[in-house]
Amino acid sequence: MKVLVTGGAGYIGSTTAKALEEAGHVPVILDSLLSGPRAFVRDRIFYQGDVADRALLSRVVEEHPDLDCTIHMAARIIVPESVEQPYAYYRDNVAGSLELFDQLATLGKPRVLFSSSASIYATVEGFEVTEQSPLAPGSPYARTKAMMEAILIDMAAATDLRAIILRYFNPIGSDPDLESGVYVREPSHVLGQLVLAAQGLKDHFTITGTEHPTRDGTGIRDYIHVWDLAKAHVAAVEQFDQALAQQEASSLVLNVGTGSGVTVRELVTAFEKVYGAQVPVREAPPRPGDAVGAYANVDEVRRVLGWSAELSLEDAIASALAWGRRRKEILGYD
Ligand SMILES: NC(=O)c1ccc[n+]([C@@H]2O[C@H](COP(=O)([O-])OP(=O)(O)OC[C@H]3O[C@@H](n4cnc5c(N)ncnc54)[C@H](O)[C@@H]3O)[C@@H](O)[C@H]2O)c1
Repeated sequence: MKVLVTGGAGYIGSTTAKALEEAGHVPVILDSLLSGPRAFVRDRIFYQGDVADRALLSRVVEEHPDLDCTIHMAARIIVPESVEQPYAYYRDNVAGSLELFDQLATLGKPRVLFSSSASIYATVEGFEVTEQSPLAPGSPYARTKAMMEAILIDMAAATDLRAIILRYFNPIGSDPDLESGVYVREPSHVLGQLVLAAQGLKDHFTITGTEHPTRDGTGIRDYIHVWDLAKAHVAAVEQFDQALAQQEASSLVLNVGTGSGVTVRELVTAFEKVYGAQVPVREAPPRPGDAVGAYANVDEVRRVLGWSAELSLEDAIASALAWGRRRKEILGYD
């Protein structure tokens, strides 16, 4: 199959492109390189441009009339930036995607797989969320995701467009060949901060929030190896029509996580085991807007796509550490 991957120069997009290739498919990358590095595109078919550029999309389809499906991953994704620059986020994520979806329908390319996020869920008792759990997106970024979901569902109900919406939990790690991974210079996410503290580049790792109503008081997440996440896309692309037919639906929402919640303290322990050394830890109050967290109920994705995560938390941490040692070769910076 030939698959258009918007955002295919990004962290998850480049890993998904590799998983598609390994399964015998051909990715076609569309990316503005707003944030994704050129090096992650490698020698793949590549169009540099914006997802809202209808003329460019027409050219892509003209040159690849055999495109079977689009995976729409391109987005602005930095939560604090979305608070400061809501216009850019709503324009690029929401208005841009609206143009993309309409143009795909117009061009007769109706299958859309969309990257949504667990950050749209409200906190629920027990922290396990199903696709029917209440939503309460807590930032402009998360609200763009919730809006795009609603747009896709409405458009799929009214037009030929068909949508599978994947709500990703917390991807970590790299692709198995260490050719792509997290590329931001100073990772702000928890695993990146742990690596910095372990390497002595920061004097300690700070646990923000130790009085949450979780088993040890720290926030809870569902860390999924990015390679497992990439393979969920392959499963969804390959079974796109059957999955929707089985549900008798024009659109479908699926959680993509491991099904296990891991607290920050548990993550630190797992990290120390894989890294082989202790990390200096301090505790601090939660930052404003910090979510307690959630983990995925994965019954639906297992039932509909037959997919489930195969790699462990330790595998993912080891992969992130190995990528950290390798990435300078590919990116040119530590
Ligand atoms: N990383 C996570 O923790 C996470 C969690 C849940 C959901 N997601 C979603 O997964 C998708 C991929 O995330 P990622 O972590 O790989 O991010 P990323 O920033 O590495 O990748 C996004 C890519 O989209 C490109 N892009 C941005 N706006 C564009 C536009 N208007 N037109 C064309 N290209 C554009 C960027 O250059 C980048 O290469 C995003 O939609 C994100 O919201 C990510």
